[in-house]
Amino acid sequence: MDSVSLIFNVLAYLALAIFWVGVGYRLWVWAETPVPLKIPTTPAPETLSGVTARMAGEVVLFRSLFRGDKALWLGGWTFHGALLLILLKHLRYFLFPVPAWIAGLNHIGVYAGEFILIPLLFLLVRRFTLEQVRYISVLSDYLVLLLLIGIALTGLAMKFVAGVDVVAVKAFMLGIITLSPTAMPASTWFLFHFSLVLLLLVYFPFSKLLHAGGVFVSPTRNQRDDGRIRRYVNPWDYPAESGEVTTFGGG
Ligand code: HEM
Repeated sequence: MDSVSLIFNVLAYLALAIFWVGVGYRLWVWAETPVPLKIPTTPAPETLSGVTARMAGEVVLFRSLFRGDKALWLGGWTFHGALLLILLKHLRYFLFPVPAWIAGLNHIGVYAGEFILIPLLFLLVRRFTLEQVRYISVLSDYLVLLLLIGIALTGLAMKFVAGVDVVAVKAFMLGIITLSPTAMPASTWFLFHFSLVLLLLVYFPFSKLLHAGGVFVSPTRNQRDDGRIRRYVNPWDYPAESGEVTTFGGG
């Protein structure tokens, strides 16, 4: 194997390790952090099924964002929807055999790849132009949007500027997954695309992008508003053996 392929195989494993350990560790710390009070954002459901429905509304429809800021909701929701389609389309590089429904997403995945630039640019321009948003924005807020735009542009370049051997891409990805590294496809655009994706993986656990998993361990969202029905015990008022210690999911 050539040295560039070797380096990128090693970088891929490093990036994957940082991603999984980082995401796992941060979510575990959040999940394990005792919550001293009932703090669900009201009006909140009183039952577990109610909490599940509420969480689903947040994750699938971004309901509270919809109530708060319609323009941001439209930009954010369409961005995430397009990202989902793109990622599902990409599964054809990781799965063998490719399920028919993933293969069927090929065209819509490319449209989503073109479309995603619109919400991404909107989110970027919004940060520059809205006074209050600019005030609370930090460098990483801009950089992560630029990173995603860079990933989309280099992906589209492989489609519209200089094609890539997708069979070689698949062999490369399956090589990584099956721990039998193979040569990297000979494409400069792929090299850029893949490098930016690795950067995203490494940055993900340290960034605000972790809201993707964080929403599930957020007490304001996962707690039941049943303080008048069940006695809620502050976890550090009693030792664990009291059986009433409440952390993630127990609220
Ligand atoms: C290791 C992971 C990835 C690999 C191996 C990969 C590979 C590729 C390849 C080979 C193409 C060209 C498709 C074609 O010519 O038909 C492409 C396109 C694209 N990729 Fe990726 N990609 C990866 C991750 C990502 C991620 C995480 C994103 C988004 C954040 C992304 C966004 C895009 C977009 C928008 C396109 C253009 C539209 C399309 O053809 O789907 N890619 N990618």
